[in-house]
Amino acid sequence: MSRLRKRVAVLISGRGSNLQALIDAAVGEGFPAEIALVVSDRPDAQGLQRAERAGVASRVLVPKELGGRAAFEQALEQALREADIDLICLAGFMRILGADFVGRWQGRLINIHPSLLPAFPGLDTHQRALEAGVKLHGCSVHFVDSGVDRGPIIGQAAVPVLPDDEPDSLAARVLTAEHSLYPRCLELICLSKIQLLEGGVKSTSSAPAESAILANPDRL
Ligand code: GRF
Repeated sequence: MSRLRKRVAVLISGRGSNLQALIDAAVGEGFPAEIALVVSDRPDAQGLQRAERAGVASRVLVPKELGGRAAFEQALEQALREADIDLICLAGFMRILGADFVGRWQGRLINIHPSLLPAFPGLDTHQRALEAGVKLHGCSVHFVDSGVDRGPIIGQAAVPVLPDDEPDSLAARVLTAEHSLYPRCLELICLSKIQLLEGGVKSTSSAPAESAILANPDRL
């Protein structure tokens, strides 16, 4: 990954609001990455329209049509190679990638998950956070390893859980945080300020800018 602006592929399955946040960040002056390719495993993913509007190349690779996961991953690898991709962002991509694929892209494959990992891996994170009665919830960006929603954590953003929250209201608050966190983490990785080393994340980026305490209720 030696070129100045890394070439990033974003893998999606649906709405693509995180894709949009990455596209928007990447057109900003001085951003160290360009979104060079969008890959969807669903032809009807709304994110494909976002890619088209932004003039980003996209591919639709449907595992069932290609003959299963192995064929899908082969086609994906080829698409990534053809587009000369340095780094992959999973953004609402609803498939588990195989260990070989993940191993080949280790340190260059990241995901955003809507919870403060390691709490609430998997689905329905907002509902489960409400049921658990947590007072802070949020999102995590992490390097992908062979587990589901697991792997060294790159960055997290927390939001308060409010007394009248429903899963949808909490999801919306977390999503707003996702849209800031994901581009920021991508930026730091592209600048080599965050790296995956020997199973851990090494960060040479500055400490959190604002308050070191995020509390709910506040004023400790
Ligand atoms: C986000 O909440 C993301 O954290 C999760 O799936 C959702 C995708 O939303 N992995 P979008 O497609 O980016 O709008």
